Amino acid sequence: MAPHARLVGPIPDGADPDEFDRVRRRVLWKLTTGLYLLASRGREQRNLMTCSLVTQLATDPKLVGVAVESDALSLRLVREGRSFLLALLDREDRAVVRSFAKPALDDPEAGTLNGVACRPSPVTGCPLPLRAAAYLDCRLEREVDVGSHVLCVGEVVDAGFGAAGPDVALLRSEDTRMSYGG
Ligand SMILES: Cc1cc2nc3c(=O)[nH]c(=O)nc-3n(C[C@H](O)[C@H](O)[C@H](O)COP(=O)(O)O)c2cc1C
Repeated sequence: MAPHARLVGPIPDGADPDEFDRVRRRVLWKLTTGLYLLASRGREQRNLMTCSLVTQLATDPKLVGVAVESDALSLRLVREGRSFLLALLDREDRAVVRSFAKPALDDPEAGTLNGVACRPSPVTGCPLPLRAAAYLDCRLEREVDVGSHVLCVGEVVDAGFGAAGPDVALLRSEDTRMSYGG
């Protein structure tokens, strides 16, 4: 069997490395996650990025974490703006996720990113998509280098629901055919 290109992490004694790698990735893909847009703004640029590595980290203070790829534009913008916003999406909003898997095209005159209408959030000024089902606006509290990603820890400074109110069903990773992580 050809040696694996880059096998990450420890392997249980006696396990076949390639088979273990495959199973481990498939189990990791099964972790239940939502799909969100990470909104950021730097000195001269703003962005929306599809993300799934998101969770609440503490209840007092109200902290949420999002793991952002070390070379992502969004990481640079989160650092510059010392803030980020997580937009929760309607379960029917699948197409948006694909559209923001690369840096977004900003049209400041139209007020859109990749054609999605946004307004500056009242507290941090991050772009808040008007179609968001809900949002958490956060000030960057700290960051933790975790290898491929940087865990951006934010304190929630504002939150709200979209026009449909709190009972809307939200988009989760399992609602799309895209997988990330693993
Ligand atoms: C379903 C899905 C989930 C993703 N989740 C994350 C994530 O949690 N963190 C991350 O850094 N990139 C994630 N990505 C990749 C980014 O969307 C993509 O690499 C991104 O455009 C790079 O960020 P940038 O636009 O800020 O350069 C995900 C992509 C997909 C399709």
